[in-house]
Amino acid sequence: MLIRPSRPWEISENDVTPESVYLNRRSILTGMGLGGAALAAGMLPNSVSAAITGFPAPRNGEFTLDRPITDEEEATTYTNFYEFGSSKNIWRKAKRLKVDPWMVTIDGMVENEIRIDATDLLGKLGGQEERLYRHRCVEAWAMAVPWTGVPLSRLVKFARPNAGAKYLRIETFNDPDIAPGQRQRWYPWPYVEGITIEEADNMLAFLATGIYGKPMPKQNGAPIRLVLPWKYGFKSIKSISRITFTDEKPMSFWEELQPREYGFWANVNPEYDHPRWSQKTERMLGTKDRLDTIKYNGYGEWVEDLYKDMEQDRKLFF
Ligand code: MTE
Repeated sequence: MLIRPSRPWEISENDVTPESVYLNRRSILTGMGLGGAALAAGMLPNSVSAAITGFPAPRNGEFTLDRPITDEEEATTYTNFYEFGSSKNIWRKAKRLKVDPWMVTIDGMVENEIRIDATDLLGKLGGQEERLYRHRCVEAWAMAVPWTGVPLSRLVKFARPNAGAKYLRIETFNDPDIAPGQRQRWYPWPYVEGITIEEADNMLAFLATGIYGKPMPKQNGAPIRLVLPWKYGFKSIKSISRITFTDEKPMSFWEELQPREYGFWANVNPEYDHPRWSQKTERMLGTKDRLDTIKYNGYGEWVEDLYKDMEQDRKLFF
């Protein structure tokens, strides 16, 4: 999903997990010539300024991992946030994002249309919890992290969708003055993702406000992002500013750029390769372990019912 000027959304298999852009926090800080004492709050990759409170939240023991939790520094310095550029090393640029206040619009086919600050919205969605989830990027890197947040189903209930609403169309902010990537006109900004109401109501679908027991760092999608652990990571849209309930299947950012490669469903499946690389294995951030990729990223028992009528359809995966 990296940039190549002529056709920016196309990369070769060799570029999928480029080690050249892989920097851990220590090497970044060394490169900046910063010593421990100089690491004032604003300079750390995991420092935030959001007003959402309640960290750390109690862990929900239902979700366990089959692999170690990824090192916090790795997960907060190797991030995809194209609004701030196409490299993984955008955490300093993302600090320009102002997340307090942060308005979220809920609109479309709902009884409770509302424009509300993210902190107030969270207040209406009940207590937060922590969940350990695997995360599998379509680029074949993976991590395992503790997210803090609330089930997305609570937001659906709060919005009170009409009987005809079938999908959630979810949008990120659009501000090229803050986010340099949004000055790159060949991308169809703002970043948009879409899921069905049934997917949003699935107990795994999570609205995350934090990671590693702390408020969400900006580069990971502050103040509020989606986490859909059974789908490729690009569905987990960051820094949500609008959620529209609709009866039209939303066109997502990556699907609009390259429909043959990034589909609506995007459920993790090692049997269907990306047209330009294999999806059979994944590289863990931090350890660089190569693990076999599992269908639905290992969450089949929770989600396969959603797709039982579509099992033979290749489009289910891409
Ligand atoms: N959301 C927005 N708004 N912009 C993005 O570029 N990248 C997606 C997803 N959400 C992206 C986004 C991709 S490709 C992945 S793999 C995950 O965020 C990465 O989440 P992380 O950087 O917190 O690991």
